[in-house]
Amino acid sequence: MSDPSLTLQPIGFIRTPKQVKFQTPHQPTESVPESSVLELLPDCHYEEALSDLAGFSRIWLVWWFHRNSPWRPMVLPPRGPSQRRGVFATRSPHRPNPIGITPVQLLGIQGRVLTLGPCDLMDGTPVFDIKPYIAAYDSFPEETNGWIDEVDALHAGPPTFSVTLSDHAVVQAEWLWTHWQIDFRPRLIELLSRDPSPHRTRRITRREPDGFMIGCGAWRAIFSVSEKAITILRLEAAYPLRFLNDPHKTGHMPDRAAQLAYHAQWPQEEIRRPTQQG
Ligand SMILES: C[S@@+](CC[C@H](N)C(=O)[O-])C[C@H]1O[C@@H](n2cnc3c(N)ncnc32)[C@H](O)[C@@H]1O
Repeated sequence: MSDPSLTLQPIGFIRTPKQVKFQTPHQPTESVPESSVLELLPDCHYEEALSDLAGFSRIWLVWWFHRNSPWRPMVLPPRGPSQRRGVFATRSPHRPNPIGITPVQLLGIQGRVLTLGPCDLMDGTPVFDIKPYIAAYDSFPEETNGWIDEVDALHAGPPTFSVTLSDHAVVQAEWLWTHWQIDFRPRLIELLSRDPSPHRTRRITRREPDGFMIGCGAWRAIFSVSEKAITILRLEAAYPLRFLNDPHKTGHMPDRAAQLAYHAQWPQEEIRRPTQQG
C-alpha cells in the first residue's frame, strides 16, 4: 500500500499578542478591538496569490494547532458541564490532524502581509491556507447545533456568580498590568462568573484552605466561593522559582521574566507545584 501521509507546507505564520492558550478565546471575540498580522513567506508568489482578495471583508484561515498534545477521541470542552464529548463533535485542538479553521475579518493587505481582526490563534501559529468567506456558501444560521445548543440554553441569561477581587488581588493585578502589560482579569471574570466548579479543561481545582484555584496561562488565581459570590483572593505565578531559575529548563516558559519579578515582589507566597502552561 502506498504511504497515505501527506505533506503540507505553511504559507505563513500569524503574529498575535497571545502567547499562551489562556489568553486566546475559544472562538474569536468579535467585540474586542484587536488585530493580528499574518505574514506570508517570501519568494513564493504569494503577493500574486493574494490579488482580488481585498474586496472580501472576511476570510477563512486554515491552520495547525502546533502547540498541542496528542489527540484524544473524547475531550472535555471548556464550555458546559464536566462532560466528555467525541472530538469530532467539538472544535477541540486535540484532533487526529490538528487543523484549525477560523473565519476572521480582513482589515488590509500590504504586499504579502495581511492585517486581520480578532482571532483565536496563538502567536506563531502556522497557517496553511486562506479562502474567502462567502456568506451565501458558508453561513447556515438555521441549522441545529447539538450539545452546543443545550449548553447555550443553560448559559442564557446573566452570569450566575458575581466575581470581585480582594484589595490584595487588585494591587497584584495592577502591578502586573503596570509593569508587564499582563491582564487576565476579563477572561478570569468571564469564566468564573459562569461556573467556578472544578473542571480540568478550565483548569479549576480545589486548593485548600482557601477554596479553589484557576490556572490562567503562566499565572493562577486563588479564589473562594460563598453562595453565588466569588472572591479572587490573590494571584500567583504558576512556576516555582526553582523552575524559573533552572538553566536546564530550556523549553518555552511564558512570561518568565514577569514571573521572576513577581516572585521578588511577593516572595512570601508559596508556590506549591509547577503546572502545565495552557
Ligand atoms: C477551540 S479552538 C478552535 C479553533 C478554530 N476556530 C476551529 O474551530 O478550528 C481555539 C483554541 O485553540 C488554542 N490554540 C490557538 N492556537 C493554537 C496553537 N497554535 N496550538 C495549540 N492550541 C492553539 C487556544 O487555546 C484557543 O482558545
